[in-house]
Amino acid sequence: MAGGAGYIGTHTTVELIHAGYNVVIADNLSNSELSAVKGVEQIVGHPVPFEQVDCCDIQTLKRQVFDKYDFDSVIHFAAFKAVGESVAEPLKYFHNNLDSLLNVLSLMKECGVHNIVFSSSATVYGQPEVLPATEQTPRQRANSPYGLTKQMSEDIIQDTVAAVTSLQAIALRYFNPIGAHPSALIGELPKGVPANLVPFITQTAAGIRKELSVFGDDYDTPDGSCLRDYIDVVDLARAHVVAVDRMVQGKTKERFEIFNIGTGTPVSVLELVNLFEKVNGVPVPHKIAPRRPGDVEKIWASTELANTELGWKAERDLGDTLRAAWAWEKHVRGL
Ligand code: NAD
Ligand code: WQD
Repeated sequence: MAGGAGYIGTHTTVELIHAGYNVVIADNLSNSELSAVKGVEQIVGHPVPFEQVDCCDIQTLKRQVFDKYDFDSVIHFAAFKAVGESVAEPLKYFHNNLDSLLNVLSLMKECGVHNIVFSSSATVYGQPEVLPATEQTPRQRANSPYGLTKQMSEDIIQDTVAAVTSLQAIALRYFNPIGAHPSALIGELPKGVPANLVPFITQTAAGIRKELSVFGDDYDTPDGSCLRDYIDVVDLARAHVVAVDRMVQGKTKERFEIFNIGTGTPVSVLELVNLFEKVNGVPVPHKIAPRRPGDVEKIWASTELANTELGWKAERDLGDTLRAAWAWEKHVRGL
């Protein structure tokens, strides 16, 4: 699993192991810590093979992972994901996110590894004209280099799979992943000031941030704040298990498939803040602030294809997800 020590990778490792898979985590720890792997090991109750390796270094990736272990599937999480930083340093994003994918695909071809699940994103849709977004909704010009790497990665995978008949791929387009494992032993570990809403909420509730800025209350939405589709990270992790099952069991209908992974339910920023305060019984001081440049007004997923084809459905209650997010923040801060 490339980038498996990160937020979504650690949760996915737990779900894969619970489903009976053996997992090798490969990660250069550029945006994660070894303690995350320890958290996984605590949950599953045994050591998990870990290789510290940069996927952009093809020789080392081959030696430390592809030559050393026998596996049939790759899940490719390894990427930088900070949208704002990608605008300031596009080449850093193009290099890391594309080189790592190209190396993984090349080594899969060379070493006879057939299946890849790729972490794509709802960001590929931009602001859809019709909602909910289905997998057929036209992608729009990405509004950040980060988003562009996701669009380009999907295209690279599609063309590679078309040409290399031993390969098959599933791209999962995540909507807004939030929450943490119910054990509070793993969760999101943002570096510096969080850009994403839920880590900012939990850090504000913990007193680390003075107040949350709600970016805009004048959108064309019921309460004026933006609408998103917040997907619990454990539900999201389960989607990877189902995607791997589908490939190893030969149930794919095409050699490159794409699925939206969301709940299908739009939730506003203000609704999310209010629900967090209600379920956790803690205040989240907040103020209305100007719109954040680059934000889309509203987006949520059509989950019909994932429901019917993958047989996957989001199950976790949003209140429980926000309880888990708060339990994780308290665990990290020793509160
Ligand atoms: P994360 O930063 O927590 O995890 C990514 C992991 O990849 C980190 O552990 C990092 O150290 C590692 N990594 C980065 N570049 C690497 C490289 N060259 N070689 C080896 N390891 C490398 O992020 P996440 O939230 O777990 O996201 C996982 C994937 O899902 C990413 O591809 C991201 O773009 C995508 N995604 C995330 C979200 C989200 O909101 N979290 C939404 C949609 C898509
Ligand atoms: C959610 C909502 C903000 C912070 C990003 C990436 C996307 C994908 C998921 C990787 C928005 C509002 C936020 C704050 C706020 N990542 N907000 N105050 O922007 O929907 O998606 O993460 O692929 O590519 O763009 O997520 O959590 O940043 O914001 O009011 O302090 O919360 O305006 O409406 P976003 P987010």
